[in-house]
Amino acid sequence: MALTGSLQGKNVLITGASSGLGQHFATTLGEAGASVVLAARRDSLLQETVAALRARGVNAHAVPLDVRDPASVTAAFDAATSAAGVIDVVINNAGITATTPALDISHDEWSRILDTNLTGCFTVAQQAARRLKAAGRGGTIVNVASILGQRVAGMLSHYAAAKAGLIQLTQALALEWARYRIRVNALSPGYIETDLNRDFFQTDAGKALIQRIPQRRLGQMSDLDGPLLLLCSDASAYMTGSVLTVDGGHLVSSL
Ligand SMILES: NC(=O)c1ccc[n+]([C@@H]2O[C@H](COP(=O)([O-])OP(=O)(O)OC[C@H]3O[C@@H](n4cnc5c(N)ncnc54)[C@H](OP(=O)(O)O)[C@@H]3O)[C@@H](O)[C@H]2O)c1
Repeated sequence: MALTGSLQGKNVLITGASSGLGQHFATTLGEAGASVVLAARRDSLLQETVAALRARGVNAHAVPLDVRDPASVTAAFDAATSAAGVIDVVINNAGITATTPALDISHDEWSRILDTNLTGCFTVAQQAARRLKAAGRGGTIVNVASILGQRVAGMLSHYAAAKAGLIQLTQALALEWARYRIRVNALSPGYIETDLNRDFFQTDAGKALIQRIPQRRLGQMSDLDGPLLLLCSDASAYMTGSVLTVDGGHLVSSL
């Protein structure tokens, strides 16, 4: 099954679409024929991407969203539904990280990471599923996890715990919502080069990290396109509760 154009007629909401992977996902999915709704807190950045997408003929919209605030999630889905119609596909991509030794993590920092990366994904997924069920439609949720949810690294205990929780949540929701024809899968990227981390990977520590990846290179955002299109499209109709790892072999690096 060809994946290009495979999202024609689908309405997709992407959280955390103001930068990095989320912005890239919005472009990839829009170019595959979907109507895309870009959601995040920094509205001006969303508007810039929406304008660029519309100039390329993509049906694109922006809605403000803070995934930590349930009222904001409801309002974002209301606005997205008005703009594009019932949301068929959700990319739960909004996420934050911080590099802090476990002994020094404050309660506030722990809560911020868990509220955004785990609780926020649940709130968004639940909102999407309630609306799909009410509309009598099936749909697809893609949770953007991380290989740090499958193995650990130093100074990221809260992030690793949140992403591991997101993987388990993916499987639990897949079990409960299969009866509503709602599929829930996780995309688990390894280290992907973005504007935020590019400088780090020029440092000695960054270069050493790349040497531990079996393919000896960072992932590029385009490396996620095929797996993302697979999970969003009917090509993965019999996949739910799966974790699709895209990491150049990092998880299978030698111990
Ligand atoms: N880059 C990598 O190597 C990598 C690897 C594995 C997994 N990931 C995951 O991929 C996702 C995207 O990461 P990225 O590298 O693209 O980082 P990024 O450029 O910092 O993007 C994070 C996005 O999340 C949004 N966001 C943060 N808090 C939010 C909130 N409370 N409500 C709504 N949106 C919020 C941000 O938008 P606003 O600030 O405008 O709200 C931003 O658009 C994250 O879940 C991350 O854990 C990244």
